[in-house]
Amino acid sequence: MCGIVGYIGSKAAQNILVGGLKRLEYRGYDSAGIATLSKDGAPTILREKGKVAELAALQTKNEVKDAVGIGHTRWATHGAPSVKNAHPHTAGRITLVHNGIIENFQDLKELLEKKGYDFKSDTDTEVLTALVDSFYQKDVSLLDAVLDALKVVVGAYGIAVLAHDQPDKIVAARSGSPLIIGLGDDETFIASDASALIGHADQVIYLKEGEVALCTAGDVQLYDLKADPISPAVETLEADMQAIQKDGFDHFLLKEIHEQPETLRSTLAGRVDVDRLRVQLGGVNMTDAELREIRNIIIVGCGTANYAGQLASYFIEQFTSDISIRVEIASELRYRSFHVPDNSVALIVSQSGETADTLACLSELKRRGVRCLGIVNAVGSSIAREVDGGVYVHVGPEISVASTKAFTSQVAAITLFGLVVAQAKGVGSQELAEYIRELEALPAGIESVIERVEKQVKELAKTYATYEHALFIGRDTMYPVALEGALKLKEISYIQAEGHAAGELKHGPIALVDDSFFEVAFIADNWLYEKSISNLIEVNARGGHVIAVTDSKKDIPAEAVVRIDSDLKVLTPLLFNIVGQLFAYYVSLERGNDVDQPRNLAKSVTVE
Ligand code: F6R
Repeated sequence: MCGIVGYIGSKAAQNILVGGLKRLEYRGYDSAGIATLSKDGAPTILREKGKVAELAALQTKNEVKDAVGIGHTRWATHGAPSVKNAHPHTAGRITLVHNGIIENFQDLKELLEKKGYDFKSDTDTEVLTALVDSFYQKDVSLLDAVLDALKVVVGAYGIAVLAHDQPDKIVAARSGSPLIIGLGDDETFIASDASALIGHADQVIYLKEGEVALCTAGDVQLYDLKADPISPAVETLEADMQAIQKDGFDHFLLKEIHEQPETLRSTLAGRVDVDRLRVQLGGVNMTDAELREIRNIIIVGCGTANYAGQLASYFIEQFTSDISIRVEIASELRYRSFHVPDNSVALIVSQSGETADTLACLSELKRRGVRCLGIVNAVGSSIAREVDGGVYVHVGPEISVASTKAFTSQVAAITLFGLVVAQAKGVGSQELAEYIRELEALPAGIESVIERVEKQVKELAKTYATYEHALFIGRDTMYPVALEGALKLKEISYIQAEGHAAGELKHGPIALVDDSFFEVAFIADNWLYEKSISNLIEVNARGGHVIAVTDSKKDIPAEAVVRIDSDLKVLTPLLFNIVGQLFAYYVSLERGNDVDQPRNLAKSVTVE
C-alpha cells in the first residue's frame, strides 16, 4: 500500500515528486508529503492530510528549487490519517518514506526512546527513521547506516532515505514492497510503481527482494544486505502516458468498464485460434505431459480476484472429469494447515501482483512444492516474478480502485488455462468448441451489452441510489456474479450490499427482505431459470424491490428488468457482470461519491 517517489538531478524536485504522487494516488490517499534538500542540506518538508491535491496546494505556497527529494502518498496502517502521521518522517539528520509494516517497531521504539529519541507520530515509519539515524554516526556512511538498520528490522519495507548533510544521494531499499529505479540523463528517479516513471525514464531497474540502491544524479549502485555489490539488470519500461489517462471519460472506472472489449481482446490475442478450435499459452512453462498429470487446481486470490476464480471454476469443471478445483480466499488459506494433493497446480490471481495475502499464499504453496502459476496484470510485479509461469491478463493499468476490466480478463485467462489443460488431456476440440468460440465472441458481446443497457442502468441508478441496503442473488455461474456485483456496489456506493446464492435465501437472508431493501437478481435463461424465478417471487411476496437482470425474453415479475440480448450461452455471466459494474458506477455517481478513490480503500493491498 502507499506510494513512494524520489528524484535526484538538476531540476526542481518538488514538481516532479508531486506529479509522481498524483499518478500513485490510487495506492493510497489519506495523506501525502514531500521532503527536499537544498545544496547545503537544508530540508523543506511539506505534509498534508487528504489527497495529493492538498499537498500540491501547500507546495505552491512553499516552492523551493531543491534538486533532490522524496515523497509519499499514504494509506494508513499504523496511526490514523493525519499530518503528524504523514510521511516523510524525520529523526535527527535522516528523513525517510516507507511502504510496508515494521512488525517489531514497539521493541525498537522502546530502545530508541532510551537513547533519547522523542517520537511525534504513531507510526512504525518514524521508528525506522530514528533507527537509521541512530546508526548514522560520524564515519558511518548513509548506505551503511541504512544497512545496519535493516538488519534489525522485522517486517516489510520499500524505503527511500535522505541524509540532510549529504544532499547528493538517496538510498532506497526493498523487502516485500516494490521499488523501481528510473535512469534518466544525469538524473535518477525512484518509484514504487512504474506509472510514476512514465515520461521521465524508460530505462529502469526493478529492485529485487533484499536489494539496496545508492542513487546519485545519473548513477545507481546496487548492494545486497551484506553490502556486497550487485550488478543491476536494466530493463526497458513498456508503458505509455495515454494508457494512464482518462480518455475523455469522467472517471477511470467508467473508462475501464468501456475498455473491456479492447482489454479482453489483448488477453485473448494470439491465444485463441477459432479456426483450429485450439488455445495456446506461451508462459505456462509446462509440457503437455505435465499438464496431463494435473488432477487438482487451487485458485487463490482476494476480493474480485477471488470471485474471478470462483466464476472460472464453474467453466473449467465442465472441460474434463478428472480435475477437482478449489477456490480459496488468500487471507484465510495462508493461515490454515492446508494439504495439497499430488498433481496439483495453483493459480495465483492478482491484478496488482502485490497483494500481501496472495503473495504469502504463493510462498506457502511453493514451500509445499506446489507448482504455482500467476494470473497477473502488473508485469514485473512481485507475484509475476515469483511464480513458476503464468498467464498475464494484459489489461493495462487499472487505475480505479474498484476492479472491473481485470475481473473479466482474469476469468478469461483462467478459462484459457483450463482449456489448455483439457487439450493436453486429449479432450476433443469439438467438445471445447463452444467455450473457444464464445471467448472469441465475448469482446463484441460486451460492446453490445454496454451499448444496450447503459442508458437504462443510469436511469435505474437514480431510483435505487436512495436505498441503503441491497441483496444480490444468483444461481450456478450467476452466484459469483452476484458476489462480485454486491462487492462493486458496496465499495463505491457504500450501500450495504450482500451477495447470496439464490437457493440460500430461504436459509436465512430472506429475513432481511422488506421495503428498505432492493434485490438484484441475475437470472440466466437456462435449466435453472424456473428455480431462479421462484426465488424472485419469494422476494416479491415479502415486499422486495427486485431488479432482474436476464438474457431471457420471457416476462419477468420484477420492479425493473434489464435485458441482455446475446447469442452467448456459456460465457453470459461475464455479460451480466457488466450490468453490475455499470449499476455500481451510476449509483455511486448519483450519491456524489468519489468513484475512483472510494473511502477506506486502496488499489494495491500490500499489507495484511
Ligand atoms: C475490488 C477490488 C479488490 C481486489 C483485491 C485483490 O474491486 O479491487 O477486491 O480485487 O484487493 O487485488 P489484486 O487483484 O491486485 O490482488
